[in-house]
Amino acid sequence: MTIYNSKHNHLDSAKAMDGEDSMKHFRSKFHFPKAPNGGEGLYFCGHSLGLMPKDARKTIETELDSWEKYGVEGHFEGPFPWLPYHENITKSFSKLVGAKESEVIAMNTLTVNLHMMMISFYRPTKTRYKILIENNTFPSDKYAVDSQARFHGFNPSDTIVELKPTPGKKTVEPEDVLRQIRELGDSLALVMLGNCNYLSGQCFNFADIAKAAHENGALCGFNLAHGVGNLLLNLHDDDVDFAVWCSYKYLNSGPGGIAGCFIHEKHITEKNIPRFEGWWGTNKSTRFKMGPNFDAIPTAEAWQLSNPPIFQLASLRASMNIFDEATMPALRARGDKLTGYLEYLLKENCGERLSIITPKERGSMLCVQLKDDPKKLVKVFTEKGVLLDFREPDILRITPAPLYNNFEDCYKLSQIIKETL
Ligand SMILES: Cc1ncc(COP(=O)(O)O)c(C=O)c1O
Repeated sequence: MTIYNSKHNHLDSAKAMDGEDSMKHFRSKFHFPKAPNGGEGLYFCGHSLGLMPKDARKTIETELDSWEKYGVEGHFEGPFPWLPYHENITKSFSKLVGAKESEVIAMNTLTVNLHMMMISFYRPTKTRYKILIENNTFPSDKYAVDSQARFHGFNPSDTIVELKPTPGKKTVEPEDVLRQIRELGDSLALVMLGNCNYLSGQCFNFADIAKAAHENGALCGFNLAHGVGNLLLNLHDDDVDFAVWCSYKYLNSGPGGIAGCFIHEKHITEKNIPRFEGWWGTNKSTRFKMGPNFDAIPTAEAWQLSNPPIFQLASLRASMNIFDEATMPALRARGDKLTGYLEYLLKENCGERLSIITPKERGSMLCVQLKDDPKKLVKVFTEKGVLLDFREPDILRITPAPLYNNFEDCYKLSQIIKETL
C-alpha cells in the first residue's frame, strides 16, 4: 500500500506519479465531457455512468452496417453474427467476476436480473423466509425484495431484515454481519447484499458471508452494481450462489446498458430449479425447430429469456476489450493507489469540513459526508466542470475510476473542493 505524505500534496507530484504509471494510456481510450466553459472537466462519476469508450461508436456502427447490408441474415453474417453475439461477452465477464464461462451471461437489465435470480434462489418456506439486506440498500433493491416477499404471500415488514450498523459506527463491522446472519439462523432464506454498498462504499467479504449463509441453511446473492469492474472478484471460489450487475457504471457500456448475471455451477443443472424461461434459454441446436418443450442449455444461458439487444452488447464489447487488456488485478491495484491518494488529499486539505464514511474495506468509491449545504456545493462543482454525485441528505460519492482517472484529476479535485468549501 502506498503511503502518501505532504510531499505528494502538489500538482507536480501528481503529474510525476502519472508519468510513472504504466496504465496511463487507458485514459486516452475514453471521451471526457467538457466543462461548461468549454475547458477540461473533471469526471468522478464512474460509479454512476462510466465514460464512453472511443471505440463504442465503431462497435455499434459495425452492427448497423451488418443490419444495412444483410437485414435478417445479420444473425448469421457479418464480422459478429447476432445469433451468438452475447458469447463475445462471456469470456470477459467470467474474468471480471472470477467465474467459469458457463456461469455468466449478459442479459436484461439489473433489476430484471435480480428478480430472475430471486425466482430461482428465494425459495421461502413457512418457517424459513427472511431476506437479509443492507440497512441503506438501494431503493430499487428494496422494492424488489419487498415485492418478492409479497409474491410468495409474506408481509415484507416481517420478511425483510436490514443489517444494523455496529453501535457507534456508520457501517457494520465484518464480524457483526456474520453475527447477524447467525442470529437469523433457521428463519433466514436469503442474504442479498449490494457489494459495494451504493451509499457508503463499504465492501463485504464474499466468502465469509456465503459461508455463514450456507452454514445457516440459507442462500447468498450479491448485487454487484458497484462492485463489477471495481473489485477483484472470485465468485466461483467464494461459493456465492448468484450475483447480478449492471454494465453502465464501471463497465462503461452506456446508459441503460445490458446487465450481467452469475449463477454458481452447482445450481445450473440442479433438477427442478424454479426458473422463468424463454426461447433464448433452450437448446441452441433445436431452438429453431420451434418445439413446445424447453430443453435448458446447461449453462447460465438457460436463464436468458429473449434474443438480446445487439447494439447494447456492441457498446459493451468496446469496453470489454479494454478490460481484457487492462486485467482486473492490475486495475484494482491502480484503483487502490488512486483512491488512497484522493483519501489522503481530502483528509489533508479539507478534513475539517467533511468526513469520509467509506470504511477501509472498499473499492474505488469514496463516500463523503459534508458539513456545509451539499446541494449548493454540488451546484458550484458543476459550474466549475466537476462531475461527482450527491445523495440525500448529505453524501457526496466520488470515484477515481481505475481505468481512466489519474493522480492529476485527484489533486485538482481536492483543490477545487478545498476552495469551494
Ligand atoms: C445498487 C443498485 N441497485 C439497483 C440499481 C438499479 O439498476 P437498474 O435501473 O439498471 O435496474 C442501481 C442503479 O444505479 C444500483 O446502483
